[in-house]
Amino acid sequence: MARLAASSKIQDGYTDALPASRALYERARRLFPDAVTHDNRRMQPFPLYVDRADGAYKWDVDGNRYVDYWMGHGALLLGHNPRHVSDAVREQALRGTHYGACHAKEVEWGEWVCRLVPSAERVRFTASGTEATHMAVRLARAFTGKRHVVKFAGHFHGWHEGLEIGVRPPYEAEPEAGQLPEVVDLVSVLPPNDILAVRARLAKGDVAAVIIEPTGGHFGSVPTPGSFITALREETRRAGALLIFDEVVTGFRVAPGGAQARLGVTPDLTTLAKILCGGLPGGACVGREDVMSYLATKSSPEENRRAKIAHAGTFNANPLSAVAGVAMLALVADGQAIRFVNQQAAKLRHGMNEILARETVAWKIYGEHSDWKIFFGAGAPPRDGSDQSVEDVDWRRLDAKNAEQSRALRQALILHGVDFNGARALVGTCHTDEIIGETLAAFEAAIRDMKEEGLA
Ligand SMILES: Cc1ncc(COP(=O)(O)O)c(C=O)c1O
Repeated sequence: MARLAASSKIQDGYTDALPASRALYERARRLFPDAVTHDNRRMQPFPLYVDRADGAYKWDVDGNRYVDYWMGHGALLLGHNPRHVSDAVREQALRGTHYGACHAKEVEWGEWVCRLVPSAERVRFTASGTEATHMAVRLARAFTGKRHVVKFAGHFHGWHEGLEIGVRPPYEAEPEAGQLPEVVDLVSVLPPNDILAVRARLAKGDVAAVIIEPTGGHFGSVPTPGSFITALREETRRAGALLIFDEVVTGFRVAPGGAQARLGVTPDLTTLAKILCGGLPGGACVGREDVMSYLATKSSPEENRRAKIAHAGTFNANPLSAVAGVAMLALVADGQAIRFVNQQAAKLRHGMNEILARETVAWKIYGEHSDWKIFFGAGAPPRDGSDQSVEDVDWRRLDAKNAEQSRALRQALILHGVDFNGARALVGTCHTDEIIGETLAAFEAAIRDMKEEGLA
């Protein structure tokens, strides 16, 4: 496997270019485990510290500018600070950031969600996507009276212990540090896209719900065919288990109504976050009225104990998130922005694969919607820009992390003015043709740097 030498031109260049980031890291490592506040922001020898962002760009604390492909972990379909969203947030900040009360904007926000998302008969806002999946599982258990949950290897549903299971190799339902075996025992991790495995597991009759990222784990790092989703709907219905789509990433990105609208398959429950909140914190669990009614208060204490899930949360439907969400959903509702980002992402994938083909590098860029993902183990370079197929690759290889190459590519791209997470990149309407040109030039230069160090 290619390894980044302890001292390499790329790594030394990174260290030299970012002295102010390094200084902040020195302070942060005395405060935060790993010096970070999100596992994915960890980076060797130290992370990039960002000062401000606008449109497609962000600037670090040393004043370097980058084309940004993190896009707020997927929350920013329209780039940084889209005017309508920023104006709404600014205005709301002056009217109050927290009323401790119901407000008109949460009603408008909920109406937008029900208008756009096919499964949304009722909505409950939460403070994050993690909380939304936690709620969905609890609702499914309450509604069905069953205990077990099925999920798929590599699929991520937030960090709570009830579902942070089987996300990484070896993909077993094994307790990790601090996780209760009793909780993990209630979850079956099945291989992705294996309907026979699903049927066999459902046949035991104890499954409350099957939860899935409907385009595949990590926004389709291992793509899921639509036919699997259709079959999953049939199997869950037949078994009396609920189907939960985790649309925290795909919601309002794959289509205004999420992956469910695009696939024509309606789940019983859906979890949402990211774009839902226009780049501010929040989430929601939405779904069938009869299932969501387990959040509603009943007429007696006995009935409440049996059929009411208590749900509080200081920041649920916070007014700032609500106004940002309303502005964002109004902007994505007609599907134009989504069509444009999909087209821009396709141009990026095509251009990058052309570069890999030209440079005879055996990686592949792939993806289906508004993203590009990198597969470092392709075996042979792409034949041309349109060669993005990964269908024949075993899912474990596609999902595998390649830490050294990821890190070196990320550092090399940073040195050429582009930032992405090392494995996947999200595209926004801010990525114009000009910015795509800038990105491809940076990618080509980064590939050459990687080749020079024997890493590509
Ligand atoms: C598919 C999916 N579900 C759930 C979550 C958790 O959402 P949050 O980070 O808002 O808690 C994420 C976060 O990236 C996600 O990608």
